[in-house]
Amino acid sequence: MDRVQIFDTTLRDGEQAPGISLNAAEKLEIAQQLARLGVDVIEAGFPIASPGDFEAVQTIARQVEGPVIAGLARAQAADIEAAAGAVRDAARPRIHTFISTSDIHIRYQMQNTREDVKKAARAAVAHAKSFVDDVEFSPMDATRADLDFTAEVCAIAIEEGATVINIPDTVGYTTPDEYAAFLRGLYERIPQLKDVTLSTHCHDDLGLAVANSYAGVQAGARQVECAINGLGERAGNASLEEFVMLLHTRRDVAGVETGINTREIARTSRMVSRLTGYVIQPNKAVVGRNAFAHESGIHQDGVLKERTTFEIMDARTVGLEGTDIVLGKHSGRHALRQALEDLGFKVDGAALNTAFKRFKEIADKKKTVTAMDLEALVTDELRQEMAGYELEWFEVEASSRRPPHARVAVKTPEGEVAEGAFTGDGPVDAIFHAINSATGIDARLREFRVDAVTGGQDALGEVSVVLELEGETASGQGVATDILEAAARAYVRALSVAVTKVQAAQAAADPRAAETELTPGP
Ligand code: KIV
Ligand code: ZN
Repeated sequence: MDRVQIFDTTLRDGEQAPGISLNAAEKLEIAQQLARLGVDVIEAGFPIASPGDFEAVQTIARQVEGPVIAGLARAQAADIEAAAGAVRDAARPRIHTFISTSDIHIRYQMQNTREDVKKAARAAVAHAKSFVDDVEFSPMDATRADLDFTAEVCAIAIEEGATVINIPDTVGYTTPDEYAAFLRGLYERIPQLKDVTLSTHCHDDLGLAVANSYAGVQAGARQVECAINGLGERAGNASLEEFVMLLHTRRDVAGVETGINTREIARTSRMVSRLTGYVIQPNKAVVGRNAFAHESGIHQDGVLKERTTFEIMDARTVGLEGTDIVLGKHSGRHALRQALEDLGFKVDGAALNTAFKRFKEIADKKKTVTAMDLEALVTDELRQEMAGYELEWFEVEASSRRPPHARVAVKTPEGEVAEGAFTGDGPVDAIFHAINSATGIDARLREFRVDAVTGGQDALGEVSVVLELEGETASGQGVATDILEAAARAYVRALSVAVTKVQAAQAAADPRAAETELTPGP
């Protein structure tokens, strides 16, 4: 069967979704999981955007094995040089360069002419080609552009050596029939297009991103750009899990396949949701909590008799098996290690001891510890290892008669323990300000969210915070049975990320400033 390449842009277009701010370690964690998922290409970021973006793409290029690693670049020399530098150490590097071909972008956004676009596209692909063999070219906003002109620009890109031509529906405007006709129109106008890979990149503003991508494949595209959980600008990109499961479930009509290990889909989706703070809607296709749940008695009855009466996919195919693992407070180290292994985590030695200690603390408070709890705990511990500041302890006095008072102790990156106290409007506010006071850093809370890891009264709580420090935003997550503890952990982690970001921004602006300490707040 014909193979469609899966180009994952969670770390680039996905990361452009409002409110997402992943640090380099989180991006690497996602990229490693994307490699396990079996994507063909990881678009790791936009290296010119900031030193942090450059570093994240470079780290992924150096450490993630398997997929092609791509860096995005506008059709400008400096962008292309940054992308080339960032992906240079990948086993299979790619530069993805783009420029708009729609008149609306040419006239109003770029304020130049069609002739300028042709020149810039030619120069960009030629420049990218001087660094890497694999060059992807995208005529941005193609679906609102003139077909003849877009074909002319794509032909120039192929002439200069582009290996992939990607057709973005940048504003999510096209329809399946129209998109397929556009791609067929390109094949008719550019004979050389059959010698390179044609790719789709569809946004979901009208809810058609997956349908349009599928229509693109029917018209001959053999690369599909998509993102985990459909993340991306505005309404997002085509959702990777939906597109892959469409080809898998309907291979009888699709006639093409992907190299994705579908059993890694659920885990990847949960990881991306946890790290980005974007919650998955319960009825989301393939990965929503209810995607395989049956409420109606008639459906339940049917599924009990024969699963396929009301299910078109098997939950195990997308990796939802193992999620029924349950441990109790008498479970031992061996059972924990086995359960973690079933979930895909290899944990031994000191890491197993730490995981076991956390597990026992939780198991003392909860009747049963489920697979979701274990996954949340292990991820929480991994984050702890990456953090600069660490929460040592906290206490809060709260009552309905006095404002809550919090005391905290935080271990600094230098290994000292600093204490702080604050009387706030609520317990969470008191803790966060006490952490600011202990560290001497005046961060501002921008977003705060609490989710339950599983259902039930004794569920583990997961808190996500986004804070702002000197113009930089950073996010952090924490998991615990106690919401206040989860909140304190999340805040300390976000603070560590924010401090690193501020230092990196200072270093980029003025290398000498990097040596100065952050100014402690009031
Ligand atoms: O949507 C878009 O046009 C893009 C391009 C950079 C490919 O994301
Ligand atoms: Zn896009």
